[in-house]
Amino acid sequence: MTKVGQPRVKIAEIIAIDGPVAVGKSTVGKMAARRMGYRFVDTGTMYRALTWKALQQKIPLNDEAALGRMSAETRFELVTSADNPGQNGILADGQDISREIRSAPVEKNVSLVSKVPEVRHSLVNHQRRLAEDGRLVMAGRDIGTVVLPEADLKIFLVASPQERARRRYQELITGGEKATYENVLSELQSRDQMDITRQVSPLKPAPDAYVLDTEGLSAEQVVDRICSLATSGSPNK
Ligand code: DC
Repeated sequence: MTKVGQPRVKIAEIIAIDGPVAVGKSTVGKMAARRMGYRFVDTGTMYRALTWKALQQKIPLNDEAALGRMSAETRFELVTSADNPGQNGILADGQDISREIRSAPVEKNVSLVSKVPEVRHSLVNHQRRLAEDGRLVMAGRDIGTVVLPEADLKIFLVASPQERARRRYQELITGGEKATYENVLSELQSRDQMDITRQVSPLKPAPDAYVLDTEGLSAEQVVDRICSLATSGSPNK
């Protein structure tokens, strides 16, 4: 029985959003966070920042020990980028590299850096600290499974590779980049393959995640669904 004055539903304070490349995690994650009055953390920016730094410092991407040391030493600050307001920006060691982390060399190599166990270890610790104050939406590949297995609400977004490639292609063309749909699709499929088959924290839904098929849905519709799950008091556990 509910006592007078006692809230009847528990609103999700920590929301994990996972899913494959270009499924819209950061777009809907940001919108959902704004609606709920929560912070938004896009963990992909951290893996991208380390990839950019490794390329700058010419660290061989198969030197796992050096990549691990670099990740432990790097200071991150997550920011909203003025350059690219649709994305979450990032400062690494005080330098704003929000634009650089979206460049083709980073896109091409980020899966290699993100499969290194030492890199994942230090970034996961960092991400857990970011979640300590609660009231946040965190997006990535392993948030519900590894980073925040105790999250109140876990969402796993899906859409076909063709739909995701179409969305990413549109984004690139609108942003004035040169791209072909075929190239976008084939890069996306090879990144999917690496994310799914890597040894450490492969991309997969947590057993208690809500799998949300976004095919044919607008971002607003996906956000409506996430926010209604978050406020309906039907948490994951
Ligand atoms: O979401 P994104 O495309 O910005 O992510 C960039 C890369 O980082 C992607 O290839 C997978 C990796 N990543 C990861 O392994 N774990 C996360 N929590 C977030 C991203």
